[in-house]
Amino acid sequence: MFSVHIMTMKILDKVFQRGREFLGVDYPILCGAMTWISDPTLVSTVSNAGGFGCLAGGNAPVDILEKQIAETRALTKRPFAVNIITIAPAYQEHLTLLERVKVPYVIFAGSFPREKEVKRMKATGAKVLCFASTDSIAYRMLNYGADGLILEGMEAGGHVGHVSLMVLLQQLLFQIKEVPVFVAGGIGTGRMCAHLFLMGAAGVQFGTVFAVSEESCAHPAFKEKFVKANARDAVSTPQFDSRLPVVAVRALRNRGLEDFGKLQLTLLKQMDEGKIGRQRAQEEVEKYWMGALRRAVVEGDIAGGSLMAGQSVGLVNSVKSVRQIIADLVRDTEAELARIKKLF
Ligand SMILES: Cc1cc2nc3c(=O)[nH]c(=O)nc-3n(C[C@H](O)[C@H](O)[C@H](O)COP(=O)(O)O)c2cc1C
Repeated sequence: MFSVHIMTMKILDKVFQRGREFLGVDYPILCGAMTWISDPTLVSTVSNAGGFGCLAGGNAPVDILEKQIAETRALTKRPFAVNIITIAPAYQEHLTLLERVKVPYVIFAGSFPREKEVKRMKATGAKVLCFASTDSIAYRMLNYGADGLILEGMEAGGHVGHVSLMVLLQQLLFQIKEVPVFVAGGIGTGRMCAHLFLMGAAGVQFGTVFAVSEESCAHPAFKEKFVKANARDAVSTPQFDSRLPVVAVRALRNRGLEDFGKLQLTLLKQMDEGKIGRQRAQEEVEKYWMGALRRAVVEGDIAGGSLMAGQSVGLVNSVKSVRQIIADLVRDTEAELARIKKLF
């Protein structure tokens, strides 16, 4: 039991209700999937602390993902999601695996899924959540049958869209009533959560904040870099030419990020020379990110690897346990709600 349980939960009960019921958790605080970081330990720790953990399917070979699902199940009896990336090499195998092992929540990430893939996952009994980085994607996912949406603003870490959460809140959170809407990107405080809940969010998803937790497997040098970084250090990558469309990535500025620019220019030159097709070039781009993220997270190569981070990195000042992070978020959400209540 941690301190938040002895607090009066009345105000919180109200704002937490929808997300709590949908996710089957105490606190609708999600630790978004992070490739290489969201392993069974982090996911189960978040879920056991009353939040909602998401296992990262990422680029994992299907047998590894199956093992990780089993390990997570052994570590927690609480709900968690499996996050799969539509552009991952083993994506189709991941779908087949989830039909066989059946998990309660599936989250589609990367690009957006096809309608039949959403239906396939729903047919397993899973609740399906889809990311929405624009209003058109959000409505398309609702038409496909998504049970919930995660609005992710461009402030987020990892692969990102181009619209800020500020705008997505107004375009979508204020409009969509039929399914629970979760919000992500650049969020780092309970005080902010209070306002997002009041705006109608069913829950709040964090990435960067949990990447720095004690239980995160990320290399100590990776965490140290995050603790020291400012919000402005988390920049998103440019696209040089529409012939090579790349999904932008937000990461801390370093040599690895510069190398990515050079890689794009090399690939474009090879495309000009007819040495490589567009699809191969895009695959090379994705391969770069996955390799670079692994180097930073696993090996601690903070100069040449990818330090994917949201602008929320400017709100992270120390390494704390998952339990402490969640307790602080819940406490500060409640304090802000109490402050607002007093104003009226
Ligand atoms: C290192 C890192 C890796 C990530 N990998 C994934 C991923 O594999 N799948 C996914 O859906 N989101 C991924 N994300 C996004 C997070 O799940 C989350 O939505 C995002 O970090 C929220 O923004 P924040 O970092 O400002 O809290 C990643 C984020 C980070 C920082």
